[in-house]
Amino acid sequence: MLAALTKVQWVIVGLAVAIGLAGLALMAVNVLAIIRPRPAGEQGPSQPLFGPPQQLTRRRFFGRLMNAGFGLSFTTGIGLSSLAFLWPSVSGGFGGRIRLPIDANEIKAQIRATKLPFYYAPGRFYLVEYDSSDDTSGLYTENSLVAGGLMALYQRCVHLGCRVPFCETSQWFECPCHGSKYNRAGEYRAGPAPRSLDRFPLEADADGFITVDTGIIETGPPRGTNTTGQDPEGAFCVDPNAATEAEEEH
Ligand code: FES
Repeated sequence: MLAALTKVQWVIVGLAVAIGLAGLALMAVNVLAIIRPRPAGEQGPSQPLFGPPQQLTRRRFFGRLMNAGFGLSFTTGIGLSSLAFLWPSVSGGFGGRIRLPIDANEIKAQIRATKLPFYYAPGRFYLVEYDSSDDTSGLYTENSLVAGGLMALYQRCVHLGCRVPFCETSQWFECPCHGSKYNRAGEYRAGPAPRSLDRFPLEADADGFITVDTGIIETGPPRGTNTTGQDPEGAFCVDPNAATEAEEEH
């Protein structure tokens, strides 16, 4: 789940953790001041953690109690809201299990008619057709990465995270940022990307409807994986030299 967070989400989580820790510290300092044992025979006076000795008056005691309560509620609030933020969506959005509104046959008909993958923006994935007989080593079929003749590819480039569009002419995925290219099955073909596109497990129910689990990101197979043997079918959308230039930069 954490691997799927965007940079903005990481910043928000970092802030939440920092504020939560501050609340925790506030609570701890005040609780310690209240429960700190007094020297034997001492009636009433209490030594503060910081500063000169002070009498723990009734007013000071309730002040400490209030501060501790404030720290506790602050920490709890931040903790719960962070959890709610990170918890996989149960409403069908990215991070949760998404059941598509049309069945696998309709999706495949749409892919063939448009010659484009089926893109589902709320889930940040593409569905592509995949012939399981190409998967001779069981790389995808044995890991629940193919269902109903479809595979779910994460839209994020494994190089630096740009969204990778599909090029209608080459029939490959081509990243506009530094020119990485992946075949129709999201397998690495060129550019600075370290591996193939990541993907999500999916399943087809008895009625042929597909559910994609975007809460689990399966790391894409390594460079050199080419189960489809698909060559580019036309002109590239992104200059092939962009890959070379980007590789030289790194
Ligand atoms: Fe896609 Fe760099 S982010 S090639």
